[in-house]
Amino acid sequence: MSDYVLVTGGAGYIGSHSVLALMEAGYNPIVLDNFSNSSKESITGIGKIYGNTPIVIEGDVGNSSLVMDIFSNYDVNSVLHFSGLKSVEESMADPLKYYIENVGSSLSLLRTMQAASIHTIIFSSSATVYDPESQVPYTENSPTNPINPYGHTKLCIEQILQGLVSSNPKWRVGILRYFNPVGAHPSGHIGEDPKQTPNNLMPLLMQTAIGRKEKLLIFGDDYDTPDGTCIRDYIHVLDLARGHLSALSYLERHQGLHIWNLGTGTGTSIKELVDKVREVTGVEIKTEITSRRLGDSSKAVADPEKAKSELSWHPEYSIGNMCADHWNWQRQNPDGYQ
Ligand code: UD1
Repeated sequence: MSDYVLVTGGAGYIGSHSVLALMEAGYNPIVLDNFSNSSKESITGIGKIYGNTPIVIEGDVGNSSLVMDIFSNYDVNSVLHFSGLKSVEESMADPLKYYIENVGSSLSLLRTMQAASIHTIIFSSSATVYDPESQVPYTENSPTNPINPYGHTKLCIEQILQGLVSSNPKWRVGILRYFNPVGAHPSGHIGEDPKQTPNNLMPLLMQTAIGRKEKLLIFGDDYDTPDGTCIRDYIHVLDLARGHLSALSYLERHQGLHIWNLGTGTGTSIKELVDKVREVTGVEIKTEITSRRLGDSSKAVADPEKAKSELSWHPEYSIGNMCADHWNWQRQNPDGYQ
């Protein structure tokens, strides 16, 4: 196989693990990244693991002449579209930035793909598109109702893709709704490196374990869950990365638009996750219960049956593996990529 796959945001957390998986499967990924929220060290890390680095092009997805040049220079068959802004908080403070960056750049990418007759795309969506009031586990048919601009941009791009597929049956679109990605490659050479102060639980827990933060604040213990803390469906980034390969292979055989949840189907509460991280790290992590965070739902868990049956994809990693691999990355890179 010598198919070129354009990977937007391929230097980021999920992107870099997926680029590695593509290379291991014999694809030729071309990373397009502007490094605004990622590091070139992730490419070096891929090289350390695989022995070879992917082609890297520095630039914006929204730069249509650059993207067209890539399509002219390489025989690209498909696109994995990871790039985009991802902070819920920032999206509420500056929604226009999110619509312009996420929706605007995606529109530009799709128009350029259409002009180059490339019709296969896998889009990184999120469980955040579901209505937080819906019953768990969420199936792909559960009601959607994102409650912040970041989530709106994800759903908006999904709807744009739906419109494209209706307009032209040549399109092959895979929408992957990620649950809560955690973990890292077990080598510790690539992992999650939040450039700003992280908002997500796992990186904050790791920073507390390594001593960069004094304690972890738990946002509410009065939820309708067995221990009162919120339940999420954490999924190892390597399982997510493999999900992209399975989706790509499915799209090689099927036209149209297909949505898949990528989660394990198992919920873990904040307290359970803290206990697991204590066990794996051997560090007594200080916690403090504080008030609920606005917009949090008590439970968000995937029903992953559609991905399992259609893609023959099965998550392989336990919550213990996720914590151990994330910790290994954190310990080897206490300040992230240097
Ligand atoms: C969050 C985003 C979601 C995004 C996802 C990306 C919100 C409301 N949702 O999901 O849109 O797709 O990240 O990974 O921001 N928690 C604490 N203390 C902390 C941090 C988090 O108790 O310091 C709790 C949260 O209240 C939540 C759980 O940990 O119950 C998981 O939080 P987080 O990692 O931010 O993920 P989500 O909220 O599920």
